Amino acid sequence: MSESSKLEEIRVAAVEDIQKLKVHSHLNLELIEEVRVKYLGRNAGLICILKNLSQLSPDVRPQVGKIANETRKMIESEISALRDNLVRIQENQKLVSEKIDVTLAGRTHDLGSFHPVSLVISKTEEIFARMGFGVEEGPEIENEFYNFEALNIPKNHPARAMHDTFYVSQNVVLRTHTSNVQIRVMQNKKPPLRFLSAGATYRHDTLDVTHSPMFHQMEGLCVDEKVSLSHLKGVLTAYLQAFFGDKTKVRFRPSFFPFTEPSAEVDISCVSCSGKGCRMCKESGWLEVLGCGMVHDNVFRAVKYNPQKISGFAFGMGVERLAMLKYQISDIRLFFENDVRFLKQFRTAL
Ligand code: PHE
Repeated sequence: MSESSKLEEIRVAAVEDIQKLKVHSHLNLELIEEVRVKYLGRNAGLICILKNLSQLSPDVRPQVGKIANETRKMIESEISALRDNLVRIQENQKLVSEKIDVTLAGRTHDLGSFHPVSLVISKTEEIFARMGFGVEEGPEIENEFYNFEALNIPKNHPARAMHDTFYVSQNVVLRTHTSNVQIRVMQNKKPPLRFLSAGATYRHDTLDVTHSPMFHQMEGLCVDEKVSLSHLKGVLTAYLQAFFGDKTKVRFRPSFFPFTEPSAEVDISCVSCSGKGCRMCKESGWLEVLGCGMVHDNVFRAVKYNPQKISGFAFGMGVERLAMLKYQISDIRLFFENDVRFLKQFRTAL
């Protein structure tokens, strides 16, 4: 076969292979390289012809050389065009897949908020801290001794019935108030004492707008030599005016608790009508906020303190009740349903 017809065969085969590459659906650089090596590699027919040109007779050499060179150039340029094209397509695909929409709005981080019960407790602790009160804790599951007996509420005392107690077992109850902490702290520490203690309390009440079988109380105790009723009035008035606003009027009404003598209930001027009379205060102008009194001698005896030498005052208040008055919330159940639409309204601290 003549060199010219060999060249023609190579050219036809190369054009065909290159055409296949052009329409290949998964073209890659390796496939292109295979075709390049097949036609332009060291052992390719075309390259051998070019290498051996000098051995051809002078009458065909120029013609064969010309065609061989043209064929090589044609294949080279087709291959490099294919390669350039493929690289460009791959770059475009990369650009599209890595595209970032810089106009897209950023993701916001939702901020949590404190539960109103926590807000009232921390605000109250803060106000009392300024008056030298620390913070103490006590158990929610409690012996009857701490919840009742030591607080001058002996067995069969009518006050026990008022407390609607949950019994865990004989002599063990879910505390009905935070007053148990008074006893536990006095048993363990010597006067002077000044502290606040907040936490959950339990009573066998049916859930309704103002009652919940679990609620929170804050207890305060101040014990020292010569603590008087005027200290009690001064401290509670200062607290209530700091909490509800300095225009708030405060009044003390005689009352009864077994563990304090004398005892009082404290009212503030209505947060809604400032005392004029409205639905919230049932036209009275006043809202009851807490119970308090001078620590009963029997309570001091129960913790082996000498009532001749020391005296003290105590108070207890409902956290949900304070929060309801402060934020004008009408239903106690809202505190325990954990509806975020309710909770997120308390984002800003008191
Ligand atoms: N423990 C009382 C109650 O739960 C409140 C109180 C505490 C009253 C301390 C006087 C002194 O109702």
